[in-house]
Amino acid sequence: MDHDEITRWLREEDPEALTRLWARADEVRRDNVGDQVHLRGLIEIGNYCVRRCGYCGLSAGRSGLQRYRMSAGEILDCAAQAVEYGYGTVVIQAGEDPLLTAEFIGGLVAEIKSTTPLAVTLSLGERGDEELAHWRSAGADRYLLRFETSNRGLFDRIHPPLGDRRSDRPAMLLRMAEMGYEVGSGVMVGIPGQTYDDLAGDVETFARLNLDMIGLGPYIPHPDTPLGAETGAGADQAPASEELTYRVMALARLVCPLANIPSTSALATLNLAEGRELGLARGANVVMPNLTPRQYRPMYEIYPAKACIRETARQCHSCMRSRIESLGRSVGLGPGASPNYLARRRQTSGDVTCVQ
Ligand code: 5AD
Ligand code: FES
Repeated sequence: MDHDEITRWLREEDPEALTRLWARADEVRRDNVGDQVHLRGLIEIGNYCVRRCGYCGLSAGRSGLQRYRMSAGEILDCAAQAVEYGYGTVVIQAGEDPLLTAEFIGGLVAEIKSTTPLAVTLSLGERGDEELAHWRSAGADRYLLRFETSNRGLFDRIHPPLGDRRSDRPAMLLRMAEMGYEVGSGVMVGIPGQTYDDLAGDVETFARLNLDMIGLGPYIPHPDTPLGAETGAGADQAPASEELTYRVMALARLVCPLANIPSTSALATLNLAEGRELGLARGANVVMPNLTPRQYRPMYEIYPAKACIRETARQCHSCMRSRIESLGRSVGLGPGASPNYLARRRQTSGDVTCVQ
């Protein structure tokens, strides 16, 4: 699919054509990653952040937010819960927080890997190669870092640099793949200043980076952030809508058939009744039930009115299961690595048998 075709799909107005897009994405999903829906237990281990991303409620520039960091013991308890619920993976996520040191995270990863069968995904922001390599050798399997937008000017406007360091997330993602990580990235849909053309470029970037996981959600304005007050009403502005998010998701499935694609909580925030289900029916094959202890959830306020902040981990767990079963799909077993990653590993190791 070329740039113009992707743009046409993003702007398509004929409902019958869109029904065909959803059906095609669903078929490609089934043929390439199957009917299982993998569960990733999300542990939001802290909300301190040194960055000032214009859209994010955890920004260092935000005052009036109570901050927390979970202890190693609390995090390991969440991992034990993931095992109890039969999840194959835990996702350890936090703001960009230098006090989550290479040693602390490395120790946690090593402990989880030596005491549980879990795959470990890290999502800790832009970190140095040394730390990333250290965590990989401690046993971390995957890393998530969204590039947010492929429009470099827009990226720079909403991501003030830290000191004189210039972010280059696509380059970081490629280096992580070289280190042996299974690599996830993605974008927000409808950032003020983002055009349809930009989004088409984002979809092309998913393919160019050969991503193993692609996370997408609508941009949700946070009133206590600089971007929260902007409307982005330019003529070509991409709307931050549920519908456009599904289109990007369906197109992501078509250009990266072997990737794992979560149906995200930002979608559930726009449509709690059926956002997750529609995502799963339009290309997604992963959901991320929240394992974060209830007392911390309201503080991980990336955007306001986040779905499911009052539910306990147990409630999230049974809710997700019944949503998956209501679609006639089954809950994934095992770590659920992306077939894209497994194929890449086979190629680079010259090994013809499965690396798992
Ligand atoms: N609206 C929607 N998504 C957001 N994120 C951060 N802030 C917002 C917001 N206001 C997303 C970013 C980030 C991920 C952890 O959450 O894409 O990478
Ligand atoms: Fe979050 Fe059900 S969708 S607990």
